[in-house]
This record gives sequence, structure tokens and C-alpha cells, in this order.
Amino acid sequence: MDSHRLMSFMVVVLVSAFTEQSVTSSNLQGPSIFDNYNIGWGYDHVWTSNQGRDVQIFLDQASGSGFQSKSMYGSGFFHLNVKLPGNNSAGVVTAFYLTSSSLNHHDELDFEFLGNNEGKPHYLQTNVIADGKGDREQRISLWFDPTTSHHSYRILWNRYQIVFFVDEYPIRVFKNKHNIGVGYPSQPLKIICSIWNGDSWATDGGLTKVNWTYAPFIAGFRSFSIKGCPAQNSMQPCYSSKFWWNRNQYWELSPSQEQAYQTVKSKYMTYDYCSDKTRYPIPPPECPQ
Ligand SMILES: *[C@@H]1O[C@H](CO)[C@@H](O)[C@H](O)[C@H]1NC(C)=O
Ligand SMILES: *[C@@H]1O[C@H](CO)[C@@H](O)[C@H](O)[C@H]1NC(C)=O
Repeated sequence: MDSHRLMSFMVVVLVSAFTEQSVTSSNLQGPSIFDNYNIGWGYDHVWTSNQGRDVQIFLDQASGSGFQSKSMYGSGFFHLNVKLPGNNSAGVVTAFYLTSSSLNHHDELDFEFLGNNEGKPHYLQTNVIADGKGDREQRISLWFDPTTSHHSYRILWNRYQIVFFVDEYPIRVFKNKHNIGVGYPSQPLKIICSIWNGDSWATDGGLTKVNWTYAPFIAGFRSFSIKGCPAQNSMQPCYSSKFWWNRNQYWELSPSQEQAYQTVKSKYMTYDYCSDKTRYPIPPPECPQ
């Protein structure tokens, strides 16, 4: 591509980056939730249709609900299509995360969707806990209404980087900086999705509570295939380049992804622990200098 065409291409990529993009419902194919996941809790707070390819879990005053992958994984490009509860969902937290089973040297990669009242933005919080060290929250406001249709949320995890995506757009990158003493997830992780009452902290710092008049709060999930390397004890087989997400084009963002990521950071990021001087007078070592 010559540079003029490359420029126009990048403009198109960036413009399309921030227009509403939803995942259509037309092809509900692939595995059912029951092929790859188990319901973990709140069994009577789960509705399924389309042979388990369209799933809703909900929160009311009696319970929330959650499901988890049957297997643990050592690397992958994990995704789910999620539609968040609408209508005054303040205090309601919907989560999609990867977690180690041990609390010792705990590893966890989190998407946490924080509900809100009608007309207020929905924030998406991410966190990275590695080798027992967390407190790495970032928040973005979403550039679309996440309650009206399913969008894709993905986590890439290989030995080089962890990238959180909203639709096609990287919203967070955590590089492997083990060489300078920063922990990096290095044990098998399972996938968990759940909905629960988080009104002690989730909305306006915990001041806005769940209004049960609007219950049940319903989160929709689709797309239950798992692009991951199943791992038991040894992680080594999961680092192989026979898994496409381990190949070198996934070791860092492409130039157009990098540009979209910078745009997300400048326009949509509302909190970044790296720039929270009260919490961290000296930015943690993994933060950009
Ligand atoms: C919001 O509430 C209206 C009226 O109660 C209902 O018809 C609609 O399905 C709700 N929307 C969502 C996203 O829950
Ligand atoms: C909950 O919502 C109902 C219906 O809009 C409203 O009348 C009530 O005041 C709300 N409760 C609280 C605690 O905000």
C-alpha cells in the first residue's frame, strides 16, 4: 500500500472503530454453553434458548448466578458476546474473567461491567492480578449502549502480552515484564462469568444502590466456543506456536490496533491506576514511563 492509501485505510479503520458495532444474532451456531461450561451457582437464575447457544443469567433479591469453563487453559484468545442488563442497573456487576484456582500466587484477568441508572454511562472496569498482586484497575466508558445488543469482549493471553478487546478495539495491554520483576499469569486459568450485587462499591463509589423495583437484572451471553489451550499442570505445551495466538503477530499490537488503543486511552479512559498519584506516588514498574 502506498502511504496515501495507507492513510485513507487508517482513517476508515479509526472511523469505523467508534461507530456502533454489534454482533448479529443471525448465526447462533457453534457449541452450546453446556459443551464448554458448567453452571456454578444460581441454577434457577439461568435461562437458555437455541439449544444453549443463547443464555441469560439474572440477579434478583434471591440470588445472582454464574457459569464457568469445564477446562483450565494455559494460553488463548478468549471471547464471549455479552449484552448487559439495562434499565437502572446501578449496583449490578456483570463479570467475565479468567482466574487461577489457587489463591496462593493468584492470577486473574477481569472484565467487570458496572451497571448504572438510565441515561448514565456504563463503565467497564478491567483489572490484572498476577502472582498475587492486583490493584491495577482501569476504567473506560463505552462508546455504545452495551444494553441493547450483544458485543464481543475478548482477552488475548500469550507469553508476551495480555490484551483486552471490546469488539475489534484494544482497550488494555499488559506486557510481560517478568524480566523487570513484574508478575505475569503463568498457571492454568479458567473462565468465569457472573452477575451479582456489587452495590457496596460499583456505582458512584457505592453510594448508588440496587433498586430492586427493576429486578430481575438480566445479562445475555452468546458464543461459547473457546479458543484456548487446555492445560493441566505443565504450561509448556500451551506456549507452542501451533496455537495461532502465540505467533509473532500476536506478540504486540499492529500499527492500526496501536492507534485505536491510543484513541481509546485518550477519549474513553476515565480511570487508570498508573496515573493515580494518590494511590501510587511512584507509578508501578509495569506502567509506561
Ligand atoms: C426496560 O424496561 C422496559 C419496560 O419495563 C422493558 O420493556 C425492556 O425490555 C427493558 N429493557 C432492558 C434492556 O431490560
Ligand atoms: C426505585 O425505582 C422506583 C421506580 O422508578 C422509584 O419510585 C423509587 O424511588 C426508586 N427507589 C430508590 C431507592 O431510588
